[in-house]
Amino acid sequence: MKIRNATIDDAIEIFKIEKRVFKNYWSFKSIRLEFTESKFSQISLLEVDSKIIGYIFQRVMPGQSHIINMAIDLPYQHKGYGKFLLKNTLEKDSEDTNVFLEVKEANFPAIKLYTDLGFEEIHKKDRYYSDGSNAIFMLKNNKKHGLV
Ligand SMILES: CC(C)(COP(=O)(O)OP(=O)(O)OC[C@H]1O[C@@H](n2cnc3c(N)ncnc32)[C@H](O)[C@@H]1OP(=O)(O)O)[C@@H](O)C(=O)NCCC(=O)NCCS
Repeated sequence: MKIRNATIDDAIEIFKIEKRVFKNYWSFKSIRLEFTESKFSQISLLEVDSKIIGYIFQRVMPGQSHIINMAIDLPYQHKGYGKFLLKNTLEKDSEDTNVFLEVKEANFPAIKLYTDLGFEEIHKKDRYYSDGSNAIFMLKNNKKHGLV
């Protein structure tokens, strides 16, 4: 099992997993744009036996990071890989970084994973997604404020 940075050559494999995993999946163009157009993008892959089985897309800025997409391929789900990948990603963020994400309200496995790793609900928006589902906005607040 290995985590490595993705390159644009991995975009096709990412897209194949994306289509298997999500009903409303990112287009190949959107995936490519994260490699070519976003200077804040950090994309990590999880490999098992040299095969890509999951990925995480992050936009990292000073003091804050947004997890904008994450998936584990279907046959590998619920085996601890998602937790491993997200934990590793969070450990790489500096101690002074707040991490944001959004998730569909009905996506219990994802919400459980995020809560387990220290995320808290900060906001909710009804009918936020194009399929009409509600969004939960979550934050992992890492900022350590000193005494004043
Ligand atoms: C959400 C996702 C990334 C989690 O990765 P995973 O490898 O399947 O999850 P893990 O095996 O690491 O499990 C993490 C926790 O989530 C929960 N969980 C994972 N899959 C679950 C399932 N099918 N049913 C119930 N709980 C589940 C478990 O509570 C688990 O913790 P525990 O085993 O310590 O109790 C993965 O299931 C996935 O790709 N889902 C589809 C895409 C998606 O929803 N992405 C997130 C969009 S915001």
